[in-house]
Amino acid sequence: MTSTPTWMKCTVYAPHELLEVIAISLAEESGGGVEEVDGGACVYFKPEDVERIDKYLGELDVPGADEVTWSWERIEGEEWLDIWKKYFHPFSPSARLWITPTWEEVGPPKEGVETIRIDPGRAFGTGGHETTKLVLSLIDDLLVRDPAPSMLDVGCGSGILSIAALLLGVGEVLAMDIDPNAVEVAGENAALNGVDGRLSLYSGDLRGIDGKWPLVVANILYQIIMGLAPTLAEKTAPGGTLIISGLLSIEGEAALEIFGGLGFTLTERRDLGEWCALVLKKEG
Ligand SMILES: C[S@@+](CC[C@H](N)C(=O)[O-])C[C@H]1O[C@@H](n2cnc3c(N)ncnc32)[C@H](O)[C@@H]1O
Repeated sequence: MTSTPTWMKCTVYAPHELLEVIAISLAEESGGGVEEVDGGACVYFKPEDVERIDKYLGELDVPGADEVTWSWERIEGEEWLDIWKKYFHPFSPSARLWITPTWEEVGPPKEGVETIRIDPGRAFGTGGHETTKLVLSLIDDLLVRDPAPSMLDVGCGSGILSIAALLLGVGEVLAMDIDPNAVEVAGENAALNGVDGRLSLYSGDLRGIDGKWPLVVANILYQIIMGLAPTLAEKTAPGGTLIISGLLSIEGEAALEIFGGLGFTLTERRDLGEWCALVLKKEG
């Protein structure tokens, strides 16, 4: 396993109604979750994100912006692991899946339930985020009705969606991410779960990949998904399924309109907290 990285903890304080909006934006920016503290919120970033977040917070142009304050704290590898240990506990996102961190004991296997062991390392995707839980549960239910021989995982992060799909019967998966660290961590997690032989990895731009898949999943931010929409449509085989998440519930309708124009129809929508996921079927 590669060494645990340094993270930067951003603690932000703002008037109550503004804090909620800022916390959602920061969570989207970090790709992780938000920790509430008395009157404020903490979000973890990679060191290279600090300048961008300072700029975002410094340039807020909304009522109450002048009351927003924030500070940074450096979190070294071992300390980071302790934070994960506090917040990442085993859980079940769906009927056939059980997610557990690598440092927890795995009990005897339960019939019909696949255990995924995840080391969050440097990538997003312990499964604890609402959007990941939504996509895991949709993949589980979809594969019962409609098994898929292969899948493309766009923005794979820790590789959790790919690993789940492989354990639930998908023959082979291509996991890709623009972040080379994420792709490396996805490979390590796949090996940890014994599915690396059926997982291919790609780091770079989605437009650089050739092929079409009967199942494509993309759990990325709304703005990025919208930018990738024509390419996601192109990579989904005729009659195939595209699952998108990373969308706020209020963004669901707009996303549906864009993908409707690209030949998709909605077969299912699920919401959890402030987030939603859409299952879209491409015309045959
Ligand atoms: C919210 S995380 C999702 C991780 C994991 N798939 C999950 O569901 O938990 C989004 C991932 O998308 C990646 N990403 C962002 N923009 C991307 C792009 N244009 N193409 C591919 N991956 C991208 C990020 O590096 C990050 O790992």
